[in-house]
Amino acid sequence: MADTTAPAHERVFLITGASTGIGAETARHAAAAGYRLVLAARSLDRLEALAAELGGSDRALAVRCDVTAWPEQQALVAAALDAFGRIDVAFANAGFGAPRGFLESTPEHWRDMVLTNVYGAALTVRATLPALREQRGHLLLTGSVAGRRALPGSLYSCTKWAVTAMGEAARQELDGSGVRVTLIEPGSVDTPFFDNRPTDGLEAADIARAVMYAVEQPPHVDVNEILVRPVAQGV
Ligand SMILES: NC(=O)c1ccc[n+]([C@@H]2O[C@H](COP(=O)([O-])OP(=O)(O)OC[C@H]3O[C@@H](n4cnc5c(N)ncnc54)[C@H](OP(=O)(O)O)[C@@H]3O)[C@@H](O)[C@H]2O)c1
Repeated sequence: MADTTAPAHERVFLITGASTGIGAETARHAAAAGYRLVLAARSLDRLEALAAELGGSDRALAVRCDVTAWPEQQALVAAALDAFGRIDVAFANAGFGAPRGFLESTPEHWRDMVLTNVYGAALTVRATLPALREQRGHLLLTGSVAGRRALPGSLYSCTKWAVTAMGEAARQELDGSGVRVTLIEPGSVDTPFFDNRPTDGLEAADIARAVMYAVEQPPHVDVNEILVRPVAQGV
């Protein structure tokens, strides 16, 4: 039987897309709350700098992982369990966008985006689920406002609709398992996601606080979705 009463400093929080933006800031907030961190992305140098900032290898593990590669996701979870013995929270957050318009961007960029945002998120769910079941843990996925309303010409929006469905599908599958599922749906956030950074957007810390709100609820409370827009975002 999993020890769900373990103190926060023993609990383990795994984040994909942890090298910058929302993922990196959530890592800082989770570390401040006492969690040990498993940080995943493709930029190992950034992850290692963040792991050092968060207390070094006893407290934070940096793992290079392309979420579109199943063997790398399996290796990520194996490294987490080797280092820390458990995963309490998994945050499937890696993702990126593309210019709007079905004649814009390139088919290759579309392919990478769909594989990262949809297939990659699903692989993170698949890879972490056994460990989450064992801990009666918490799965979070980064969707988007764009996963709640279709944006004109936006295949990115379509990928986030898939993530919205994935959150609900996972929640229903896990009903009764003790595993909680939360979909985080940011509006415009000032991160490297944008080539032209928004001046009136949210900060990554605003989303990190929403993540921690969901995670820090009592075990019987499952915050299913949190949609957060900046005050100035109409759509
Ligand atoms: N910023 C916004 O306004 C906004 C709004 C709604 C939703 N979101 C969503 O929020 C999530 C985080 O985005 P962000 O705003 O924080 O942007 P960001 O700073 O660009 O972060 C994206 C993260 O995803 C990682 N990543 C991308 N492709 C990957 C892959 N194949 N494998 C592993 N990691 C990969 C990046 O790291 P590497 O490049 O090092 O791999 C980076 O850590 C994304 O899912 C995004 O769609 C953002």
